[in-house]
Order: sequence, then C-alpha cells, then structure tokens
Amino acid sequence: MSSDAPRKPYLAKGIDIFRHPRISPLVLIDNPQPARNSSQGNMNSAFGLSAPLVWHSNHVRVTQRRPLKTTVRHVQCTMAPKKPTKPGQSNTVVASAADLATSEEARLALMDSVHKRTAKSHDTHLAIVVLGASGDLAKKKTFPAIFSLYYHGLLPEDFCLYGFARRPMTNEQFREVILATLSCRVIDGAKCAEKMNEFLPRCFYHQGDYSTADTFASLDETLKTGFERDIGSSNRLFYLAVPPSVFNASCSNINSVARAQKGWTRVVVEKPFGRDSESYNELREQLASLLHEREIFRIDHFLAKELVQNLMTLRFANTIFEPLWNRNHIKSVQITFKEHFGVEGRAGYFNDIGIIRDIMQNHLLQILALLAMEPPVSLAAEDIRDEKVKVLRNVKPLTMTDFALGQYGAKDADSKSYLDDEDVPSDSRTPTFAACCMHIDNARWDGVPFLMRAGKALDERKTEIRIQFKPVPGALFNPVAGAENNELVIRVQPDEAIYVRIVSKVPGLTSRMEEARLNLFYRHAWEESKDIPDAYERLILDVIQGEKSLFIRDDELEVAWNIFTPALKELESKDAPKPETYEYGSLGPRESEYLAAKYGIQWSD
Ligand code: NDP
Ligand code: BG6
Repeated sequence: MSSDAPRKPYLAKGIDIFRHPRISPLVLIDNPQPARNSSQGNMNSAFGLSAPLVWHSNHVRVTQRRPLKTTVRHVQCTMAPKKPTKPGQSNTVVASAADLATSEEARLALMDSVHKRTAKSHDTHLAIVVLGASGDLAKKKTFPAIFSLYYHGLLPEDFCLYGFARRPMTNEQFREVILATLSCRVIDGAKCAEKMNEFLPRCFYHQGDYSTADTFASLDETLKTGFERDIGSSNRLFYLAVPPSVFNASCSNINSVARAQKGWTRVVVEKPFGRDSESYNELREQLASLLHEREIFRIDHFLAKELVQNLMTLRFANTIFEPLWNRNHIKSVQITFKEHFGVEGRAGYFNDIGIIRDIMQNHLLQILALLAMEPPVSLAAEDIRDEKVKVLRNVKPLTMTDFALGQYGAKDADSKSYLDDEDVPSDSRTPTFAACCMHIDNARWDGVPFLMRAGKALDERKTEIRIQFKPVPGALFNPVAGAENNELVIRVQPDEAIYVRIVSKVPGLTSRMEEARLNLFYRHAWEESKDIPDAYERLILDVIQGEKSLFIRDDELEVAWNIFTPALKELESKDAPKPETYEYGSLGPRESEYLAAKYGIQWSD
C-alpha cells in the first residue's frame, strides 16, 4: 500500500492549505507590520488569527522590511517536493505582491494559488475511474463536476478519466454521454467548448463486470500500457457510482489487481452505507479488509454545500452566537428538507430505501452534528469528526413513536401518486415523508427538541435550519403575533441566506412593533455567490488533495445507524401503521404537525 497519511497539522486554525500533506513547513511572510514580541504574534495577525498557534521556530521565518504599515506584502508558501528539486527549480508559490489590501485577501489568494499549484504540480499524474459510468449519478453529478474542475484548472495536467460499466460502449459513445450531460455551472462559461474539446480526448471507456477480477486486471493493464506508459505510475481515484450490492466486489478487485503501483489509491463510496447497524457493520468489515481507512472517502454531498460548510464558521468565528447556543436560550431546532418532485426515475432504488435512509440518517443528521457539536480542537479533519461522533453518541436512539410518516398520493387526474409509479409495488409502505424529534442528552442540549423532517413531492424545494430562541422573559412588551420567538434561519438551498427574525418598532410616530429581519442574502452580499461550485466539485477536489473533513468516518456511521436502527426495525415490521397519505405538492401529512405539537412547537416556514 502506498503511504499517503496526512501529516499532523502544525498550524491549528484557519488556513486550509497548511493542512495539506504536501505543504512544507516553510512559510515566509514579508510583513511590514512592526515586530511585536514574537514572530508568532505577527503571523497570527497577518493571517487574522486570534487563537494561539503552536509554532516550531525552525519552521517559520518572518521577514520585516518596513515598520508601521498595515498590510501583508508577500505571502510565500513552499511545498514539499516529491523528488529533490533540480538547481534553479522552485516550488515556491508567491501568493500576491505588495498591493494586497488586507491579510484576509492575502490568505484567500494564498489558498487559491496553493490549491491550484498542489493539484497541478504535485499529484501530477492522476487516473480517475468512475465505476457505474452508465448510471444516473455519474451522468448527473460526477462527470459534470470532474469537467468543471478541469475547466477551472484544478486537475493535474496529466490526468485521464475512465468510465467503467457492464454495458458495451465505445470511447466515442462514452464521450457523447459526457457531452450530453454537461449540466455543470461552466456550461455558459467562456471557452467552455474549447475546454471540452481538450477534455474529451482524455476520456475513455472500459467495459467490465464489477465482480470479475479479469476485467479490473485488463483495466490495470490498459492504464499501465497507455496513460502510465511513459511515467511509470499514477495516482488512481476509483469513484464507486454503483449500487451498494457491488461495493464489496468492486473494492476487492481494486485491491487485488488495480491498485496504483507507486502513487496513492483512493476509493469514493456513495451512500447508502448499509441499511441498518448490522448491514453497515458487515460492509464496514468487508471494506476494512480491502482498503485502509485513509483510502476510503464516504461521500455525504450535503457536507459540501456552501451553507453547511459555513455552519462552523458561523458558530465559532463569531462571538455572538456561542453564548446563546444552548438549552438556556434555545427552545427548539428544526431541520427541514423538502423537494417539490417525487421519486420520478429512481423509484426502484427509493422503494427499498425510504426517506429516512435516503435523507435523514445521513444528510440531515450531518447537519445536526455540525449544529450541536462542541468546538473542535482544531480544523483538522480528525478533530472535527471526533466532535461529531461525540455529540451523535449523546443522541438518544429513536423509536417508532418519535416519528410521523407519510406517502404522497395524487393531486389530480394528471399527477401520479407514489403507488402509481411502475417500479413501486402497489402495496408499498415506503415513506416518502418523515418527521422525527431527537434529543441530545448532554449538558448543552438537555431538553431541547431537535425536529427533523424530509419529504418528496411537497410544496417547494427547500433545505433550511431554524434555531428558535426562547421568548423574552418578563412582560415589558406585548408579544407580536407570529414573532414570539427570535429565530436564526439558515437557508441551505435554494437562494442561500442567513437571517435573524427579530421584533422591531415600526418607524414614525407609533409604538407599533412588527417582525423584521436582519438579512444576509448571499446573492446580494457576495458576487461569488453567483458561481458557487457544486458540492461534488469540492468533494472530488478534496479527494484528490487527500482532505477528509467533508467525508464520513467509519465510526460516525456506526453511531448514525445506532440512532436510527431501532425505529427502522419497528417501522418496517408487519404491524407498523401505514404512512399517512398526503397530496402531491402539499405541506405533508398532518401527523407531522401533531408530532411537533407534542413538544409545544409549530413547524416554522
Ligand atoms: P444506477 O441505478 O443508475 O446504477 C449505476 C450503474 O450501475 C448502472 O448504470 C449500471 O451500469 C450499474 N448497475 C445498476 N444496477 C446494478 C446491479 N444490480 N448490479 C451491477 N451493476 C448495476 O445508480 P445511481 O447512479 O443512481 O447511483 C449510484 C450510487 O450512488 C448508488 O449507491 C446510489 O445510492 C448513490 N447515489 C445516487 C444519487 C443519485 O442522485 N442518483 C444520489 C446520491 C447517492 P451497467 O449495467 O452498465 O454496469
Ligand atoms: C440524494 C438523495 O442523496 O440527495 C436524493 O438520494 C435527493 O433523493 C438528493 O434528491 C438531494 O440532493 P440535492 O443536492 O439535489 O438537494
């Protein structure tokens, strides 16, 4: 096995690039601020860091040129060379020149350039193999994301993409599939066609069976004699866009005959990771016997959504929220996922899985973990994941009575009910809507209900978090109807936003009060929000760079299944009640309102 274990981060806070395994310890700052006591203080202020950092004095050099100015002038970062550099060859990235306006800009510039540099110059040769290349996910998400990374110059210069699946296809046909599914954000970008013409000749198709070692061996041979012929070896990223039933066979064959010879081998696995605790543990053991944990990247694409990534920043980079973030001030937390379409085209998969496994046990539970966890020791992947596991272990396992379930029916003669779908058995009890209430047994959250709901075929598409605060004590003002509680709303999608619902005096000669909002609408606040990368772009880039904080660790999944398995067993038993039918396009089943009412709460929309 290749050794690609990330080095322990030596810069604890704030700067992604310093956590990359190939960034060398040498950081040079040409900072015209006056020296205070130590280089540490200077570096902290240069990078806008307030937390104390641990420096190794040999690793950091700060150069002072001129006194008493305010901005960082140069930021250089030297990356650890894979091989010794030849004289005259430099691995140093200069992030920006003297006119950088603020340390924040310096930091961003540094991150951008290092990301590009890292991807381009270090992991120079990369073969991406997408298993299940003929499938829905590969076409909808994986290929567009890989192309978008290529378009933005974030893939190594020497890279190739292999599609792997059972059905026969020529390279040309495969390239047409990719071209036809280019739904990524760069479709209207300048030079999109030109870039696509460069990209397609790097794409190839390999027909093979997931459980036949020979077809993986022939893929290995094809890579060795083709793409890797002149370079000896390349890193290999296998993306498993296949049903879970073939995860084990695929990994077994990758391990036995298709590993990278010298570079790293990484395997991306898509959910669902099992159906319950038992099947998950079985899958976990199987994969663990074939791949090292550091080689497995379990995707939960919600973790790479812009607003979900911002949760930690919001909580821990601001002082105003943390003092309120507990049972003394928070009345309830609501996490909602709604889609305004049904299971069209995916009923075969969905009927076996249901909404609890499809959305709640992974996407919404990950959001809950980020909202409820304690501050991590650092931004290193393991520290964050440790905290998530810790808080999830405090969540009480759910039972049937913690849930309200629904299944969508037709709205009118033109619309289809769930049961009308040709891939759904006519007596299916699979829920397409679920609401549940969770409790976290720890000092911070004792007694605070965490309500979650997820549903297909509802009134709108929306993912949102609402932190509802307790009412103001005392009776100085009469409560404003509908605004008795302040609420912090984090709208994950669509139209990303963070806002606080408050009560305010209406302007003028009146003492009337109304609800008002303190708004942060992304589309108004940031030009960049018009071009937010798709979650899969970020995730695939992180896999290439070996950054694991947005991926699920094996013990996280174990606790996640422990929370949901008891309820799933009850809800899927023969005597379980049928899910309530709700109308396509409605707000969902009434049971969900009753569930919230049990805790004295109304769903907030
Ligand atoms: P598909 O059903 O489209 O399957 C992908 C490919 O796998 C197919 O094109 C087929 O290729 C092969 N395949 C399908 N069924 C079998 C089988 N029983 N045995 C062997 N090969 C089979 O799946 P998706 O693309 O929708 O999903 C892939 C993975 O990603 C799954 O784990 C899914 O749960 C997960 N996922 C999917 C999402 C989506 O939006 N689609 C979202 C999140 C996760 P061929 O026959 O040519 O070999
Ligand atoms: C997937 C689920 O994980 O997430 C789908 O399997 C769901 O059922 C999808 O539609 C939602 O993701 P997004 O990013 O489109 O909101």
